[in-house]
Amino acid sequence: VPRIVINGREIDVPPGTTVLDAAERLGIGIPALCHRQGVQPFTSCMVCVVRDRNMHRLLPSCTHPVQDGMDIETDSEEVRDARRATMNLLLSEHVGDCGAPCRRVCPARMNVPQLIRLVAEGRLGEAHRTAKTDLVLPGIIGRICPAPCEKGCRRAAHDSGLAIGLLHRYTADIDLSSPSPWTPGFAPLTGKRVAVIGAGPAGLAAAWHLRRLGISVSVFDAGTAAGGKLRAIPPERLSLEALDQELQALVMPDVEFHFGVRIATYDTLREMRAAHDAVVFAPGQLEAAELEALGLPRSERGMSADFQTLETPIEGIYAAGDVVNAARMAVRAVADGQLAARAIHRRFTGEGPPPRYKRFDSRIRRLEPSEIAVFMSEADPRGRVSPARGSEGGFSDDEARAEASRCMGCDCRKALSCKLRLYADEYGASAAVFASEERVAVSKLLDHPEVVFEPGKCIKCGLCVRICAQAGEPLGMTFLGRGYDMRVGPSFDDGVAKGLGKAAAACVEACPTAALAWKKWEERGDG
Ligand code: SF4
Ligand code: SF4
Ligand code: SF4
Ligand code: FES
Repeated sequence: VPRIVINGREIDVPPGTTVLDAAERLGIGIPALCHRQGVQPFTSCMVCVVRDRNMHRLLPSCTHPVQDGMDIETDSEEVRDARRATMNLLLSEHVGDCGAPCRRVCPARMNVPQLIRLVAEGRLGEAHRTAKTDLVLPGIIGRICPAPCEKGCRRAAHDSGLAIGLLHRYTADIDLSSPSPWTPGFAPLTGKRVAVIGAGPAGLAAAWHLRRLGISVSVFDAGTAAGGKLRAIPPERLSLEALDQELQALVMPDVEFHFGVRIATYDTLREMRAAHDAVVFAPGQLEAAELEALGLPRSERGMSADFQTLETPIEGIYAAGDVVNAARMAVRAVADGQLAARAIHRRFTGEGPPPRYKRFDSRIRRLEPSEIAVFMSEADPRGRVSPARGSEGGFSDDEARAEASRCMGCDCRKALSCKLRLYADEYGASAAVFASEERVAVSKLLDHPEVVFEPGKCIKCGLCVRICAQAGEPLGMTFLGRGYDMRVGPSFDDGVAKGLGKAAAACVEACPTAALAWKKWEERGDG
């Protein structure tokens, strides 16, 4: 029986076992894209490489059988470099958006495409929850936001961007007019206490998220009611009625509000800090002299704070909203409140500051008109819907649904499960390393009733080809062309439905990327 060593641990395995399987027995995971249990091996992707220490060479673990006396390392610097290089190459040819462009530019990173799909399906309660989870005040923000997301919307290149603001305002208004507006779950109190200074959009969002995370909150505001700068918005844009209705429905159990309290000096701020486990300072825009009186370090635009955590140079004091960066959009203030709340929570749980890196996010830059047409094939071609009641009146049910059906669904169908994305994160790979001007044109094959094939996302791993062959599919998926232009597609370009035949589910399941994916979108989730 061969005895081998993997990462310094010995194991006996039956002859013929692959190095990858032997590692698995030891609980050591090795990445693999073109390999799958029960499918003929192929050795094409090479992300499964490991290093043979005796022979001083890298080998593909998914096919290489163990040999007695082997000494393998699976995670050394050299191995990781090799995997990263392989991933960089795959990514340089990859044509896909992991996340939708609209969501990318929303300061609160609200899951826009999910909200819209839910509206299109009439699942308005879920749609509202999607928006409120990140926006906290989706009705108010839907009325006043300059909507950078709508400018970033891919559909703008065809006719005009989706009316995203009107849509989350619509679902919020429906929720607010129901007998019991939605309120999320609140974690049990942990005993930690935070003071939030300012009851404007940043402070309210901080309080809401902190309380959701189980933290007791006391809110202090110099005015007589919550809302901050939202109260100063002209009534034709935001009526006091609409403002108060949503503020009153913002239920936050055990959050105390103290009005008429102004924190304007260094000493009062320090007292607040001493009496709480942390402070979120969100009093709105302050004059230079006011900032001076607080004794907090300043930047050009306002109070200085770490951009990842919003902690100020004074330990335990976080700054959010216009005090950090004057006169910004309310949605940015709300995003700040969420960021500070998360950072404070991580501090309390000992997780430390949020990780500096963002998830790998493949992007298709500019689309050609012919490519927009491909996206349009999944959307209603009619132009943007204007509310018959005027923009103050907002959408009717039919209008909202019609507008929502214009969305082209630009987020990737496997954004959460894609292995290419997973390994890109794990190995710090990037599409930029081998970037070239040319790229494959975006295309989507939609003839199968349930499956979509996106060739630009195919990494030519050949799994679907082998699965179709093993299943005895008469046509199957196949390698087309040769050399550099080689690609995978249905045989004779005869449509995906015929190609996949009965092997469709197995192929979708096995495809490591979203090249083959279910049309239904539930899996898109929160990637
Ligand atoms: S297939 Fe994977 S890497 Fe490509 S866009 Fe989709 S999630 Fe991103
Ligand atoms: S078409 Fe839909 S998913 Fe695409 S960018 Fe616009 S709103 Fe977002
Ligand atoms: S479509 Fe087939 S060859 Fe392409 S990535 Fe998916 S399984 Fe691999
Ligand atoms: S070569 Fe081993 S998983 Fe692809």
